[in-house]
Amino acid sequence: MTFSEMINVNAVAYHNEKTTKMMQKSPLEKPYFIQIAANNIENAVKAVEIINETDWIDGIDINLGCPVNKARRSGFGGVLLKDENRNFLKELVNTIVKTSKKPVSAKMRIGFDKSVVEDRAKLLEDLGITFLTIHGRYVKQMYKGNANYDEIKKGVKAVNIPVIANGDITDYEKAKFVLDYTEAAGVSIGRGAVGKPWIFLEMKQKGSITPEQKKEVILEHFNQMIYWYGEYGVILFRKHAHAYSKGIAKASEFRSKMNSVKDPDTARELIEEYF
Ligand SMILES: Cc1cc2nc3c(=O)[nH]c(=O)nc-3n(C[C@H](O)[C@H](O)[C@H](O)COP(=O)(O)O)c2cc1C
Repeated sequence: MTFSEMINVNAVAYHNEKTTKMMQKSPLEKPYFIQIAANNIENAVKAVEIINETDWIDGIDINLGCPVNKARRSGFGGVLLKDENRNFLKELVNTIVKTSKKPVSAKMRIGFDKSVVEDRAKLLEDLGITFLTIHGRYVKQMYKGNANYDEIKKGVKAVNIPVIANGDITDYEKAKFVLDYTEAAGVSIGRGAVGKPWIFLEMKQKGSITPEQKKEVILEHFNQMIYWYGEYGVILFRKHAHAYSKGIAKASEFRSKMNSVKDPDTARELIEEYF
């Protein structure tokens, strides 16, 4: 399954056009959950009511982990794990679960600056969250240090709902290790897919992938870039073409051709030929 990037409920509630575009998905994404960031109960209700009426969205995921300054200042994401916000968190999640006609999940970090993983996991379970993703870092850490799988394991043990382990999973072996170690029901992948979008297929195939399969994913990525950005997608795709050609023969020739082309069909031909 896939999750959208974090969508602010205040923007959804007021039908912000850019936000509506951010909510779109590919037909290949199913099930697909919209992840919401909320700091306001009234707007959360409005956003959930809109999502209720949107049939291609399968569920809602509540962001309880975003560490960026803007989120901290505005009171959504990871700050909701602070003790002083526990009552608000409870009211917010309760309202979202009661309003939503679709399953509601949550994605949390292990705490703001101290572990609250067991307490918040239990609280979320009691409030009717159907499954929980835990990113094994404190909010204060941002992305520093390693994901703490012991803390994720504590979360897994504390609840009966499925827990998805998250953080620093970059290949099949690591995913297997994390699943065994934490006893989580699944894993989720963020940065591991950046530059390597075939990671999901690779994992399904227990760590192996053919060059033809990689090519198919690269072409799909290119086609989606053109779909979203039009001709400008060719320029935006350059950096990906560079990354994908790393370690393959005649990469510099391919890269310089990609750097000079502007027309999507010619670029697609180059990609088809090269990979
Ligand atoms: C640029 C960037 C944007 C992110 N945006 C979101 C987001 O919108 N929602 C979310 O739950 N996590 C977001 N994350 C966090 C990742 O989903 C993930 O929890 C974290 O990076 C650790 O897992 P990973 O090592 O698999 O990436 C973002 C991470 C990065 C680096």
